[in-house]
Amino acid sequence: MPLRINLKSAVLAVSDALDLVGVNDFQHGKRVAMIARETAAVMGLPAPRLDDLVFACLLHDLGVSSTAEHRRLVSGADYPDTGVHCERAYQLLQPFAHLSLLADAIRHHHTPWAELPADLGEADALASNLILLADRVDALLLRHGLDNPLFHSAAIRREIAGLAGRTLQPEAVAAFLAASAREAFWIALVPRHVQSYLADLALPQWGIDIEFPQFRHVARLVSSIVDAKSHFTAAHSLGVAQLSRHLGECMGFAPDDLSRMEIAGLMHDIGKLCVPDEIVDKPARLTSAEFSVMERHAFETYEILRHVPGLETIAEWAAFHHEALNGQGYPFRRSAGNLAVEARIVAVADVFQALAQARPYRGPQALEEISRTLDEFAGKGVLDPDIVAVARDDLDGSWRAATQVH
Ligand SMILES: [Fe+2]
Ligand SMILES: [Fe+2]
Ligand SMILES: [Fe+2]
Repeated sequence: MPLRINLKSAVLAVSDALDLVGVNDFQHGKRVAMIARETAAVMGLPAPRLDDLVFACLLHDLGVSSTAEHRRLVSGADYPDTGVHCERAYQLLQPFAHLSLLADAIRHHHTPWAELPADLGEADALASNLILLADRVDALLLRHGLDNPLFHSAAIRREIAGLAGRTLQPEAVAAFLAASAREAFWIALVPRHVQSYLADLALPQWGIDIEFPQFRHVARLVSSIVDAKSHFTAAHSLGVAQLSRHLGECMGFAPDDLSRMEIAGLMHDIGKLCVPDEIVDKPARLTSAEFSVMERHAFETYEILRHVPGLETIAEWAAFHHEALNGQGYPFRRSAGNLAVEARIVAVADVFQALAQARPYRGPQALEEISRTLDEFAGKGVLDPDIVAVARDDLDGSWRAATQVH
């Protein structure tokens, strides 16, 4: 059956993944969406524009995959390279029909009101400035601590009022002051209520179903965000996706299954966004404490993907890539009887692609070495020997699929 996914659920899942980058500043994008939307509603923006604003806010920091960069940005201070993540987000959103609508507003979410380019449309200019306003509010909230937003509201309102003019559009600031005069505005910003605020929004314009070619854009966007986390893993997810499809082709899978395997490959490490840079890039063996953090990523992948209607099976193929046939993998300790062949394919593709790339603690392996390592893994009962045999029978083709991404 061809893949059909609801665009709204897909983008909300991407937002959940971006939340992970914050580590301790969980739900930044979601709070920004609430603050901006409540402000825009006071300004009388029509419902479709409010909906687009919510999605722009949820995705505004998608140019940030690094936990260190995220920490710096939410500190609220201006850094010389603040614009880099805005430009990166703009480039990432450009190719995708629905999401490109949000690209201009996101591109300028750190540009002061007085410095917005003259050729930016009125709607994008206002949206970008509302994101900036909400982003500042949330940075101040984080500085004060998120345990009791209401208690800090007066100080935050004063600071935002002081930014009217050059940094923030005066009407937007006035609307924010009106919206945030209610205690409920602040009380709603704690995690439990943030979830229900978003769940209550109907967002009808985004509630459309998309099929594989468009959903593949969303999955590729996710893979670009994940792969940008470390220069070691550049194009890793894309390579795993291509190799999964290639191995599936060699094994005679039907086109719809191949598409699903490709999606699983693109998204398999989405949970890695929660792992701090210091652990991902550590040039030595991880300590057991660090490894326990690393092990979370496959679980996070599962949690994010399995809640998207239509992705339940793909979630398993993606999230079980560190499971082993002998039951000694992580984090679910599945064993052969509970691992679908598609999940085993993604696992082989993951190991193959990683071996073909340098890692902080070793260089890339040559073809013969990859082949030997895969054999070892199959011998130990980690990887499926039949799939390893397929990869070894077409070592050159597999290597190309894993490393020459397009
Ligand atoms: Fe930002
Ligand atoms: Fe992984
Ligand atoms: Fe991986």
